[in-house]
Amino acid sequence: MESLDAAPTRPVKVAVSGAAGNIAYSLLWRLAAGDVFGVERQIDLRLLEVPERVRAAEGVAMELADSAFPLLATVTVTDEDTRAFDGVDAAFLVGSRPRTKGQSRADMLEANGRIFIGQGRALNDGAAEGVRVLVVGNPANTNAYIAAKAAPDIPRSSFNALMRLDHNRALSMLSAKLAVPAAQIEGLVVWGNHSDTQFPDIEFLTVGGKSVAGDIDRDWYENELIPRVAKRGGEIIEVRGQSSAASAASAAVDHMRDWVAGTNGRWVTVAQPSTGEYGVDEGLVFGFPTTGLNGRASIVPGLDLNDFQRERIAANVEALREEAAIADQLFTSI
Ligand code: LMR
Repeated sequence: MESLDAAPTRPVKVAVSGAAGNIAYSLLWRLAAGDVFGVERQIDLRLLEVPERVRAAEGVAMELADSAFPLLATVTVTDEDTRAFDGVDAAFLVGSRPRTKGQSRADMLEANGRIFIGQGRALNDGAAEGVRVLVVGNPANTNAYIAAKAAPDIPRSSFNALMRLDHNRALSMLSAKLAVPAAQIEGLVVWGNHSDTQFPDIEFLTVGGKSVAGDIDRDWYENELIPRVAKRGGEIIEVRGQSSAASAASAAVDHMRDWVAGTNGRWVTVAQPSTGEYGVDEGLVFGFPTTGLNGRASIVPGLDLNDFQRERIAANVEALREEAAIADQLFTSI
C-alpha cells in the first residue's frame, strides 16, 4: 500500500485495538470527526477486538453509523490482526493486559508479549508505508518495544508509546500553579516510562520566552508535582472507580495529530525508540522532549542536564531495561 503522503486524496486507514473499551469509545468519535487527520480526509476505521468482545465492538460500529459522520467512509469490525492492519496508515494499540492484583511483572509482560508480538508481525506484513503506530495499552513503553521488535521491516521510529497523558497532566498542574494558561507554557517534558518512575521535568520551562523554573517552589515540585503526575492514573481509578479513558483518548489524539501535522517548534513528550540519546539504551521506548518536524518526530538535541535530572532519567532507563530483558526472552518462545 502506498504511503498516505503519496496519495493525498485517498481515505486514511486507521486501526484501533481494544475497540469496545472505554478509551476507544471516546477516541473513535474524535477520529471520525476529523480531529486527527483533518476535516478534508475521509477515514476507514478498523475496529479490532478479542473474539469475546467482537459483538460489543459491533455495537460501537452501529453507534458510529448512527452519528452520520461526513468523513467516515467505512467501519470494519474484526478479531483478526491481519485484517485490521492490512494497508493501515495509523494504528492505535489500546487493548492490552495491564497488571492485575498479585500478578508478577513477568506474567504481565508475557500476556502482553503474545498480543504485541502478534500485532507487530501483522503490521510488518500488511501496514502501509510510513505507518504510525501509537501504543496506549499498558505497559505502553514496553508493549511498543515488543511490537517494534516484531516488525523488523518497519522503521523502529514508526512505533511510539503514549506519554502525552503524563505531559498534559503536568501541564495542567503547572498552569494552575503558575496561574498562566497551559498554552503559554513551553519547554515541558516527562522523561522515561509511563509508570511510577516517570520524571516530569520543569528545568527548561518558559512562559512568554522567560525561564520560570527558578520561580517554582522546589519542595512543591519534588514532593507534590512529580509524585502526583506519576500517580495520577491511580488517583483517577480511585476517584472515578475506573481507569482514565476520555483523557487518555484526548492525549492519543494530541499525540497522533502532532505526529502527522507537526508542533510548530513546541516541545511535547513522545515516548519513542531511543537511538542512544541522553544515555538511553538504543531501542528502549522512552519519553523524550520532542518537536514534530515535517511530520517526523525529532528528539530535542543537546540539552545540558544536571545531576537531579540525570539520576531520574537513569532510574527510568534501569526500569525499562529490566522490562526489555523479560520481553526479549518472549521472542524465543512466542
Ligand atoms: C493512566 O495513566 O491513567 C493509566 O495508565 C492508569 C491505568 O493503570 O490504567
